[in-house]
Amino acid sequence: MGNNQPAQIYLPAPSQKGSISLEEAIARRRSIRDFTPEPISQSQLSQILWSAQGITNTWGRYRTVPSAGATYPLEIFVVCGRNGVEGIGEGIYHYNTGDHSLTLHHKGDIRLELAGAALNQEFIYEAPVDIVICAVYSRTLLSYGDRGERYVHIEVGHAGQNIYLQATALGLATVAIGAFNDEQVKKVLRLEQQIKPLYIMPIGNPASNIQGH
Ligand SMILES: Cc1cc2nc3c(=O)[nH]c(=O)nc-3n(C[C@H](O)[C@H](O)[C@H](O)COP(=O)(O)O)c2cc1C
Repeated sequence: MGNNQPAQIYLPAPSQKGSISLEEAIARRRSIRDFTPEPISQSQLSQILWSAQGITNTWGRYRTVPSAGATYPLEIFVVCGRNGVEGIGEGIYHYNTGDHSLTLHHKGDIRLELAGAALNQEFIYEAPVDIVICAVYSRTLLSYGDRGERYVHIEVGHAGQNIYLQATALGLATVAIGAFNDEQVKKVLRLEQQIKPLYIMPIGNPASNIQGH
């Protein structure tokens, strides 16, 4: 991508019609760790982010994923590799749920560093894009005290499963990654202290036949 990358990128509106049924998506879902370097489209990224945290009611409060007391602790970052998403430059982006947009957080392709912070799981830099689901625990702990920690962890599972199913419906591959060094991932992503990474989910086209898994 050129140097004219805007600081804010408005994603195409997500679709609510897919080519396979929910039941098929559930049946076909698999963790896939082999990706082609081919970029994904902005519509595909839009759909993945919407499934994870998109707003689904007209006055803008409720989302695709349930949240204890609607406290919404999750924040999503997109690690876009060089030529990772059509028309989007390499960098770390923050997903803004309110207007379904991305804000550039840091320029540059940091996939290799991210893989290094996650036990060198090489599919993190082989995939064109990595979604990192993070949480600001205090939002939920404020209402629920220590039990809020459990609620945040349950919630990230909901978001992760939606990403799995949406990726499956789009013919894309993903895998939920929980094995990483928290502090190193925070450093690589230049995250503020209160934002904690919980899941890394590489996204891309599958290198092998999904049905064969
Ligand atoms: C909490 C959690 C953490 C996981 N962490 C990793 C990981 O670090 N690396 C990895 O390759 N797979 C990881 N996985 C994916 C599992 O290995 C995978 O779900 C399991 O092998 C079952 O395969 P399936 O998802 O295709 O049904 C994780 C899954 C969960 C639920």
